[in-house]
Amino acid sequence: MSKINENFLNLQESYLFSTVAKKVAKYTEENPDKKVIKLGIGDVTRPIVPACIEAMHKAVDEIGTEEGFKGYGPEQGYEFLRNAIVENDYKTRGIEIKPDEIFVSDGAKCDCGNIVDIFAKENKVAITDPVYPVYLDTNVMSGRSGKYNKETDTYENIVYLPVTAENNFKPELPKEKVDLIYLCFPNNPTGTVLTKEDLKVWVDYAKENNSIILYDSAYERFITEKEIPHSIYEVEGAKDVAIEFKSYSKTAGFTGVRCAYVVIPKTVKGYTNTGEAVELNKLWNRRTCTKFNGVSYIVQRAAEATYTEEGQKQIQENINYYMNNAKIIKQGLEEAGFTVYGGVNSPYVWLKVPEGITSWEFFDKLLEEVNVVGTPGSGFGPHGEGYFRLTAFGTKENTEKAIERIKNWKNG
Ligand code: MLT
Repeated sequence: MSKINENFLNLQESYLFSTVAKKVAKYTEENPDKKVIKLGIGDVTRPIVPACIEAMHKAVDEIGTEEGFKGYGPEQGYEFLRNAIVENDYKTRGIEIKPDEIFVSDGAKCDCGNIVDIFAKENKVAITDPVYPVYLDTNVMSGRSGKYNKETDTYENIVYLPVTAENNFKPELPKEKVDLIYLCFPNNPTGTVLTKEDLKVWVDYAKENNSIILYDSAYERFITEKEIPHSIYEVEGAKDVAIEFKSYSKTAGFTGVRCAYVVIPKTVKGYTNTGEAVELNKLWNRRTCTKFNGVSYIVQRAAEATYTEEGQKQIQENINYYMNNAKIIKQGLEEAGFTVYGGVNSPYVWLKVPEGITSWEFFDKLLEEVNVVGTPGSGFGPHGEGYFRLTAFGTKENTEKAIERIKNWKNG
């Protein structure tokens, strides 16, 4: 008899964005005349920039020749891309990362999800609350959580670190000792950021407790305020305790193209049961070689092209476009009388739903009464209740329309 991994039965019925998509599909099927605007899942709408398209065309032509053909590439990514990452994403910020500390992949979602493979089941995991659901779900799947408690909407054995308006969206250090700490800044879903000083507290904690910080900085390119760190390695000591996840999905519109990378400095160590230190880089490399055959050459050439002068200019234009949407959303909602967070260093705007209704009730009302889709805060965790997320990744036209509809509705 084949036995299943019963941890899967401990998961909530459906992944948050699938639930949202299902609800929207049902509504549009029943109301075919309604023009629904989707500002729910953070999926980009701007086309891939010309510098990347040209690089892909060139790569396609190349692999069609005897000399240029490519079979399996290095599992960890081609040297040209790893070098470009070192030079452009790290050296320019005064951070020294070596090419063999970088692993190119097909997405930060997969990386954040797969990283659990190299950690023992008994590690105590801390997540911020609300949180990008992948960190929690993948730990539930791999048996690192206890049972789900419907009353509190939490799992046993997971440490939840609230990030709400009450603590200015800055997670406090856990009261009990934790081993793996997921941090995502600029934050998804709240759109808020931490300063270097804020992050230093976490790095110091991790050093003191031999913990590892899993730092998701998929949205760093959207930071507009100078003093906000783009990488956790800007913080002294982080290279001993942090793994960093980066992605081209939002930076360069690669949600469909697929490319990202993980940084695991060789100085980051985990421990055996007998207390022996082991380089996590080695374990991840071993895992990568076994389970992955690399990102396609064509896509890696496109990622490399994001670092050319033209590429940088073009992707920045798209980022400015989205950040202008963020401004439209933030200002419009404020004018309508909502309390709003995020949207300054992030493409996500996090708003407080009106008193007396839940995040899901607000979702339904917005969908049914003004045909705008967002993401209910409680879908990201219990402390997301009472909040709602809108993304700036829509088109400008749709963003303006959606905000106009919300304004008229709220004030009508
Ligand atoms: C989101 O909407 O939170 C993101 O698009 C999801 C993702 O990046 O996987």
